[in-house]
Amino acid sequence: MAPTPLLAAAALMAVAVASWSLAEGAGDLRQPPVAQGLSFDFYKRSCPRAETIVQEYVKDAVRKDVGIAAGLLRLHFHDCFVQGCDASVLLDGSATGPGEQQAPPNLTLRPSAFAAINAIRDRLERECRGAVVSCSDILALAARDSVVSTGGPSYRVPLGRRDSPHFATVQDVLSGLPAPTSTVPSLLAVLRNINLDATDLVALSGGHTVGLGHCTSFDDRLFPRPDPTMNPDFLSKLKQTCPAKGTDRRTALDIRTPNAFDNKYYVNLLNRQGLFTSDQDLYTNAATRPLVERFARNQQDFFNQFGVSMVKMGQIKVLTGNQGQVRRNCSARNPGTVAGDLSWSSLAQTVGEAAAESLGF
Ligand code: HEM
Repeated sequence: MAPTPLLAAAALMAVAVASWSLAEGAGDLRQPPVAQGLSFDFYKRSCPRAETIVQEYVKDAVRKDVGIAAGLLRLHFHDCFVQGCDASVLLDGSATGPGEQQAPPNLTLRPSAFAAINAIRDRLERECRGAVVSCSDILALAARDSVVSTGGPSYRVPLGRRDSPHFATVQDVLSGLPAPTSTVPSLLAVLRNINLDATDLVALSGGHTVGLGHCTSFDDRLFPRPDPTMNPDFLSKLKQTCPAKGTDRRTALDIRTPNAFDNKYYVNLLNRQGLFTSDQDLYTNAATRPLVERFARNQQDFFNQFGVSMVKMGQIKVLTGNQGQVRRNCSARNPGTVAGDLSWSSLAQTVGEAAAESLGF
């Protein structure tokens, strides 16, 4: 039965209201609450130069290799979406099984980004005389400083995360990180599990304004048949880089300004030049399109929301106090810690550190 004009009008209004609220909702920028146990001045006494040290390192590293900014930003995202922001992605595999790095979505994380986190940790250990700053806090700060170093917005990062002594399973990684072939409904289903919404999805996907993707992450859109939502000139350009399915090459995620953190990613989507299905569908889908249009029009709106959504992402299931440890080596849990739990020795150490912290040592 055909819908009555009244019903059709009501349905249209509902869509209009839904898209209006998503686009306008981002104007109502409320800073996310700071998770219990975290604070902006967590290292004020124990390592007052912590933020400066991370910032200086990242700035210098990005000057030498701009790609490291993309690598560090993605590393923080892959940490937070799987088991929370606990630096578990940095842990090497062990006798208990393969680490998160062995899971397919993590195989393309940049080795230079892992090396940078360890190098920063070593600097912090020298400066602060001991394992004071957690690897998960370093990840969060390095991601922010990568954004800033490529021209993006700054935002304040709540600190005080502890690191987990155990990594997630390969299956957890696969279900926590959405595939690039996903459309908006399945992206939203994944984000909902970690309390992120459609506004966060559109804003955080803007991280694809920097960095590279392998042909294998999008060649389902080229072969056997081209994705009809793709701009034809963009399609032929991609086919030059990826002439056959499975080509082992990379191309820029943002065709306009590949190394700058700006809002051109959204301009690309308007022009149907998004690289992954998960990117382009943000524009195809009626619910997320108004926000894409708004961020394409107004870079400041994107920057403001990106900062808010990064702080939200950076607080997913954080461990604080004696729930975790400050790793002495970001790639391995501290000696004496049992996977899945904290042994008495590391618990005593953590409690000792907390006491020292509150006494101002
Ligand atoms: C929403 C779901 C997301 C999907 C499906 C997705 C998927 C991907 C894929 C497939 C790649 C390329 C991997 C390769 O082929 O080498 C990639 C790269 C990248 N992603 Fe995402 N991503 C998502 C969200 C995010 C978020 C939230 C951020 C950060 C805020 C982010 C930041 C990056 C960056 C910076 C790169 C480039 C990395 C490099 O050049 O080393 N992504 N993403």
